[in-house]
Amino acid sequence: MSRFKRILVVLGTAVTVIALAVGTLFTWLWTDADVSTVGDAPFDNELAIPPLAPSRLDGDGTRVFDLRMRSGHTEFEPGRRTPTWGFNGSYLGPTLRAQRGEKVRVRIHNGLDEASSVHWHGMHLPARMDGGPHQPIAPGATWTPHWTVDQPAATLWYHPHPHGATERHVRRGLAGLFLLDDERSARLDLPQRYGVDDLPVIVQDVRFDGARLDGDRGLMQNVGFLGDRTMVNGTLRPYAEVGDELIRLRLLNASTSRTYSFGFPDDRAFSLIATDGGLLERPAALERVQLSPGERAEIVVPMRAGERVMLRSFPQDNYGSAWQRRFSGGDDSFDVLELRAALRLRPSAEVPQVLGVLETPDGSDAVRGRHFDLKRSGINGRPMDMGRVDETVTRGTTEVWTVRNGNGMPHNFHVHDVQFRVLEVNGRTPPPALRGPKDTVFLPHGTVMKLALRFTGPADPDTPYMYHCHLLYHEDEGMMGQFVVVEKGRTAGNGRAATGSGHAHDH
Ligand code: C2O
Ligand code: CU
Ligand code: CU
Repeated sequence: MSRFKRILVVLGTAVTVIALAVGTLFTWLWTDADVSTVGDAPFDNELAIPPLAPSRLDGDGTRVFDLRMRSGHTEFEPGRRTPTWGFNGSYLGPTLRAQRGEKVRVRIHNGLDEASSVHWHGMHLPARMDGGPHQPIAPGATWTPHWTVDQPAATLWYHPHPHGATERHVRRGLAGLFLLDDERSARLDLPQRYGVDDLPVIVQDVRFDGARLDGDRGLMQNVGFLGDRTMVNGTLRPYAEVGDELIRLRLLNASTSRTYSFGFPDDRAFSLIATDGGLLERPAALERVQLSPGERAEIVVPMRAGERVMLRSFPQDNYGSAWQRRFSGGDDSFDVLELRAALRLRPSAEVPQVLGVLETPDGSDAVRGRHFDLKRSGINGRPMDMGRVDETVTRGTTEVWTVRNGNGMPHNFHVHDVQFRVLEVNGRTPPPALRGPKDTVFLPHGTVMKLALRFTGPADPDTPYMYHCHLLYHEDEGMMGQFVVVEKGRTAGNGRAATGSGHAHDH
């Protein structure tokens, strides 16, 4: 063989070996990225129901709650102590509950070794009370926000929002529900016995590394951490015993990156009755409901006596290319919560055909439009800057925001302080699941949405609210912007002025 030929053979072999190695690695990555827990294990742990937070009424009728953020250990599996964080306990937090019109105050003590914050996701409140990155709570400090609840009955939630560290704080367990009631919702004949026929369902994906909760993002996972199993209310492989013909599930996707498509293996129809910000005008019969991180949905599920039925998350076909689907969790499936129906069920009233009254604007009185281009590197080409106010909105006005994702990966979009109406999805009327009040929407690659928002809170030119991708890894990386609400004709402050000291500032 000539020298030249020998070199060719060596090169050829090298290329083949490398190609095989790359191919094997890729096949492994591709296969490994597909996660399923369907049919895996017996669901034999009774579902924990987060306790209702105790509260008291102070002299002027304000409902006062106490939350303490702390670290601790949780036995998700018997005998295995996992280091976790929680509110008033070692993992997650109690369910706060208040009525429309009530004044509330929450005393939050930070018992962690590092600064955090507590944000009221979905709540309409003054910017200083919002609990975003401008209201940090120093270790050992107490922060006492207060406001008047002025929005319809809804399933809201609370979680930390420290700048650049939200993902870690939420994933370690700092999250809880904040339920709002109003006279209308109380009168409706819907399942509403908390923990009986009205179940909180906080869904998180986790991965264990020994006893420890793992948070590492996989090589190809550009959406952030994706776990290989799910928990509900901090319970692995949960079941709930139910004794009514209709069961209401208040679904919260409290995962930091993962999107779910919930339904049942027999494709039974359920009634979607509420979205993020409260009741729909009419129930919608659906077989699947998709929730990206931060989104909520309330569904009413028909049960048959004696059955066991699994709430499952199915693969999602609206996720974009095969590549995106595979590496962003779109191909994954999970058994989430087993419902075990009693042999005799209490009769439930039929789901009312008229539910809520939409208070979200329809866009007809919009005074201006804005555009938001979602990119992992930042919204509208700019990463988050605490000292920069990106948008200035006039108090009392309605706007139409056009949000676009052409970034090749899934994102979502959350706006603080408001519930908005989705006017259009890719130029079409939104599907039923997007017709109720929303504060967070899922935008897979190739989606354009038009949203109508009305800003009615008190003007505060110095304290911004946030809008951001609620895939918390993206948020922490800087996929977030700030807006202030000002009186007509006024300009924004510098956005820094109101940076909190972590001390109480109540009246
Ligand atoms: Cu649920 Cu800005 O957050
Ligand atoms: Cu929020
Ligand atoms: Cu994102």
